[in-house]
Amino acid sequence: MASFDFPPDFKWGVATSSHQIEGATHVDGRGESIWDRFAATPGKIADGTNGDVACDHYNLWGTDIEKMRWLGVDSYRFSIAWSRILPTGRGPVNKPGLDFYDRLVDGLLAARIDPMVTLYHWDLPQALQDEGGWANRDTMDAFLEYTEAVTRRLGDRVSKWITHNEPWCIATLGHEEGHHAPGHFDPPEALRVAHHVLVSHGMAVERIRTNVPNAEVGIALILTPCYPATPTVGDEDAVRQFDGSFNRWYLDPLYRGRYPDDAIADRRRWGHLSSDDLPFVLPGDMEKIAVPTDFLGLNFYSRAVMKAGAEGRAAAVQMAPKEELTDMEWEVFPDGLKDILVRVHQEYQVPKIYITENGAAYPTAPDSEGRVHDDRRVEYFRLHLESCCRALEAEVPLAGYFAWSLLDNFEWAHGYEKRFGLFWVDYETQERIPKDSAHWYRDAIAAHALAHVVK
Ligand code: FCB
Repeated sequence: MASFDFPPDFKWGVATSSHQIEGATHVDGRGESIWDRFAATPGKIADGTNGDVACDHYNLWGTDIEKMRWLGVDSYRFSIAWSRILPTGRGPVNKPGLDFYDRLVDGLLAARIDPMVTLYHWDLPQALQDEGGWANRDTMDAFLEYTEAVTRRLGDRVSKWITHNEPWCIATLGHEEGHHAPGHFDPPEALRVAHHVLVSHGMAVERIRTNVPNAEVGIALILTPCYPATPTVGDEDAVRQFDGSFNRWYLDPLYRGRYPDDAIADRRRWGHLSSDDLPFVLPGDMEKIAVPTDFLGLNFYSRAVMKAGAEGRAAAVQMAPKEELTDMEWEVFPDGLKDILVRVHQEYQVPKIYITENGAAYPTAPDSEGRVHDDRRVEYFRLHLESCCRALEAEVPLAGYFAWSLLDNFEWAHGYEKRFGLFWVDYETQERIPKDSAHWYRDAIAAHALAHVVK
């Protein structure tokens, strides 16, 4: 059993999101979300499924809290489905929707598990999308209404809040590359969307602080460290491009109040911006985005390796052999986690960081005895937690780690084909089986607790 050297008050958690686990999409007044609509569009989800049942967490939340207790986690990151609270995105509050999260929060607190709530993990009410979605500034006001409703109800018991999950995915996968809902292929729109998501983050931070006295607030970014395929000027520039549009496009406005000049110039060169200004930035926006927060949520999965491609545009290269990739075809590169943590700490002076997601998809199924020997996932977690220790040694203010994910779940456009869970989910019976990685994580958490009792 590995014993890591984490500080005594280090938080150990698991993470999920509403649309990926809840199911129950048609009950208790929940409104349609963009992921319901997207999944109903033929060809969008690899296995033709949707989130209608998922892990039935809406009904099995008590069971799932038991699983968390068994793991020994002290924290749980989950998201709220906006369309359960405000079925058409704004207007009257749907009480049964709020009641669900109320029960969940009380159940967690009774199990001595600290809730960390993500307000937006991609399931925009479809009614708002019909009016332009995140490309429309009015959606920012609707988000504030939703934030108000949720924080007023849960703010007396929930102190940790995340405004948005991975604005890059919302903007790029949803509006530029079409892989995610709402499935657009419109780079200029994606930049506008990213901006409105960021401004709405700033607006929500203020509102959360007003409604939640001891609030700890942040945003969760997916950050991917990037390395050149070869040490050449062209490949170094490819790294700069990737980093500019993937990492710095979000870090710079949040922590410096401006978009990166070189990345703006890239976008202009690629024809995504026509004028010299960023047309979507209105006076006061950048100040809102750069509002101080308490922590950064960092989601980490892999690295990128880039080389100079056609017409000077960066192109991705796969360095690892295929058999070493995860089921998502992502390279396992644990040093990248330490690298990005150290960088964010040094370049942006972030006061506190939680790893709000980290994990790997592997298909390992139960054997004839019902055990899931997912050795590769165990190794993934072990190496990444070690990398966290290296970051702590470099004085990164890392305060906690949330494994993605508690359960196998609806992995967006991949449907149920990709399994990230610590628990195997049998989608026929809704049985949850702890994989070897769940046993391992449980032991790691217990060893940490023991080490600090002994000290
Ligand atoms: C992240 C998402 C999360 C999950 C993991 C695998 O980008 O935030 O919902 O899909 O990837």
